[in-house]
Amino acid sequence: MSEVILALDVPSREDALHLVDAIPEVRWVKLGPVLLTRTGMGLVGELVERDLQVFLDLKWHDIPNTVAGAVAAAADLGVAMATVHTLGGPAMMTAAAQAAGPVSLVGVTVLTSHTPAEWALTLGRVDQPLGGEVTRLAVLGREAGLDGVVCSPREIESVRAVLGEGCPIVTPGIRREGDEAGDQARVATPAAAAAAGASHLVVGRPVVLASEPRAAFRTIMEEARCGH
Ligand code: C5P
Repeated sequence: MSEVILALDVPSREDALHLVDAIPEVRWVKLGPVLLTRTGMGLVGELVERDLQVFLDLKWHDIPNTVAGAVAAAADLGVAMATVHTLGGPAMMTAAAQAAGPVSLVGVTVLTSHTPAEWALTLGRVDQPLGGEVTRLAVLGREAGLDGVVCSPREIESVRAVLGEGCPIVTPGIRREGDEAGDQARVATPAAAAAAGASHLVVGRPVVLASEPRAAFRTIMEEARCGH
């Protein structure tokens, strides 16, 4: 069954703690650069102390030595899962994997906000279909020792086909019927993402901005369960 990870994309420590307290069903939380730049890394420990699994999503993309050091620091903080960017390359991913210890390390492939046209513009070439790039980067990550990948719901099946069962495939871009897509370009429903083989669904705005966040989280959990 897919885990639902709540992206704590809120502006303050108080808002983050209030949200997790309001949704007792939450087991996994994702921390990103906006909140952590405001609160400092002490929030990681506070959430770990509440028995929450912390997914540290800082998408590291730097020289191997620097990324390895950041991953080791994340392990010391007690995070359960962290992201590196596969475009950092094999040497960077290998160094990161060797430093990960108990941290499940997943590689971001192509951001869910990229359209195929913008991705082609970013690469400077139009002959690389986006879906093929995602699976290519997923395999590169696995060969370097990463545990799994982050991809959009649209690529889960092809990534699962090349990586096989068991490894984490984490997918943002989760929207129920009628939810605003916002800046996400490649989205799917919780049921579709779960049915396609995602191990973890990342959900932010559909819960964070809901008038009743707990009810929204519960419907997403329920839909994800029905996808299996
Ligand atoms: O609000 P929404 O559900 O779109 O939030 C998605 C979360 O997942 C955000 O925190 C975003 O930074 C993160 N994310 C993403 N696409 C990726 C990797 C992470 O949207 N490829």
